[in-house]
Amino acid sequence: MEDLYAYLMSVPPVPLANKPHEAPPPFSWRWTLYFWRALFFTEGGGKSEPARDEDWNRGNYLAHAVAHCEECHTPRNFLGALKGGMAFSGNVGGPDGQNAPNITSDAETGIGGWSVDDVQRLLKTGMTPDSDMVGSGMKAVVRGTSKMSDADRHALAVYIKSLPAIHVDVPPPKDGATKK
Ligand code: HEC
Repeated sequence: MEDLYAYLMSVPPVPLANKPHEAPPPFSWRWTLYFWRALFFTEGGGKSEPARDEDWNRGNYLAHAVAHCEECHTPRNFLGALKGGMAFSGNVGGPDGQNAPNITSDAETGIGGWSVDDVQRLLKTGMTPDSDMVGSGMKAVVRGTSKMSDADRHALAVYIKSLPAIHVDVPPPKDGATKK
């Protein structure tokens, strides 16, 4: 956090007025967040679990606290909160209306057939085991993960591959590489 702050403070100032929110009420009313947070917010996602090894714990932290993999890959309830029991099982109509695939280890509908190396390669190069390049929202994610260290990408892959299988068949995004 301190490093992030130091970096932001080093960015040259730009004299540009902030724009008002584009979200219409009630979504622009900040006080409504109080209720939403009371219902759905739990502090400190990605907490360490001593029974798991170092890579898994680092991957859990990166996935939840930094890379927000769940935000796209998990379905939401009618109030827009992530459905906890369905974590990483894919999301129909995610960001930009595009579907995000099931990345649990289900052999048929998820990435059960992928190795840790396959996930790591995708995070580095954007290439799937079928030699397709990921599109849609994942392209922007790979722009970030491609700049991570190999050790961090490995940890993320170890964590993702440990996700219990959930069987949900999500149709691929329109411009996607996902195949079922
Ligand atoms: C902005 C939304 C978004 C975020 C955040 C996101 N993803 Fe994705 N992800 C997608 C979409 C959409 C696809 C499908 C891309 C395609 O088919 O071309 C995808 C595809 C994938 C695939 C390939 C699945 C398959 O069956 O081909 C993996 C693995 C994956 N993501 C892992 C991750 C991990 C790990 C993170 C966190 C570092 C992450 N994603 C964060 C949207 C997202």
